[in-house]
Amino acid sequence: MTIGSRRGWELPESAATPEDKFLRRRDLVKALAAGPILAASGIGLAGPAWATSGLYPAKRNPRYRLDRPVTDEKIVTTYNNFYEFGSHKQIWKAAQKLKTRPWTVTVDGMVEKPFTVDADELIRKMPLEERLYRHRCVEAWSIAVPWSGFALEALVAMARPSVGAKYLEMRGFHDASVATGQRQVWYPWPYLEALTIEEATNELAFIATGAYGKPMPKQNGAPLRLAVPWKYGFKSIKSITRFTFTDKRPVSFWEEIAGQEYGFWANVNPEVDHPRWSQATERQLGTGQRVPTLLYNGYAEQVAHLYKDMKGEALFR
Ligand code: MTE
Repeated sequence: MTIGSRRGWELPESAATPEDKFLRRRDLVKALAAGPILAASGIGLAGPAWATSGLYPAKRNPRYRLDRPVTDEKIVTTYNNFYEFGSHKQIWKAAQKLKTRPWTVTVDGMVEKPFTVDADELIRKMPLEERLYRHRCVEAWSIAVPWSGFALEALVAMARPSVGAKYLEMRGFHDASVATGQRQVWYPWPYLEALTIEEATNELAFIATGAYGKPMPKQNGAPLRLAVPWKYGFKSIKSITRFTFTDKRPVSFWEEIAGQEYGFWANVNPEVDHPRWSQATERQLGTGQRVPTLLYNGYAEQVAHLYKDMKGEALFR
């Protein structure tokens, strides 16, 4: 299936944009207003952790639509990459051992005031919505998922990074007592990923806290994971514990293991093959179909401008 001249997942301007933009702005202002409360050191940790399961399903944002059917929930929740629990796809049972409540998230580095907050408290403060996103793994399989969560931009606004901050580094958890994959000490645990600030504040960068109208399943990265649909799936780090703003480009988990195969940028491009996988087409899980892969996974209109002046960067691995 191909996408026409208008972005396939958007409503026409006339139908959607004004209210959408208004809502986004209003939610961001709300998130900003919450900043000082969360920043007061300790409040997030000491306060009661309340369940957020009642917040789902979140209202769908019609701006983010698909050009393909949503993948069956059973497939998305039983065919996973989560190396903390093993290097095969059937980790969903093992991942149930992960204790995702209570869960704290630390925001630190080059910010006005570092803070640690309970994950549920953070989720409560954020403008939750549902978005339909494509997900393209570097292994050339793809899925389409209704994620619930909030724009990463809202968290960046809350963190108030200093002007010198250029990157946002995200780290997963490290607990080899439950995550047996982390006993494989040759991996550089914890899982680590990073975006530039421009990428992190792009409208598509999303922190997913739920899927299919429910809180996030453990195997998909509970309680919160990244969703950056224009990049290969390994960038979308699961079960985040820390967001660190920095002026030095972080070396991500896979980049450290095999930098020639997995780079910092990892933007989807059908014309740049991985040494082991042709990227020209992708296998859509659940449909048995192989379809052409799209530049930036079909999201070029939102993100291509981020890279237009970058010469000599390996943008597509
Ligand atoms: N995050 C962590 N912490 N550990 C991982 O192994 N795998 C990545 C990404 N995020 C991974 C991760 C890869 S390679 C992919 S394709 C997606 O998660 C898979 O997400 P899914 O299992 O929800 O489809």
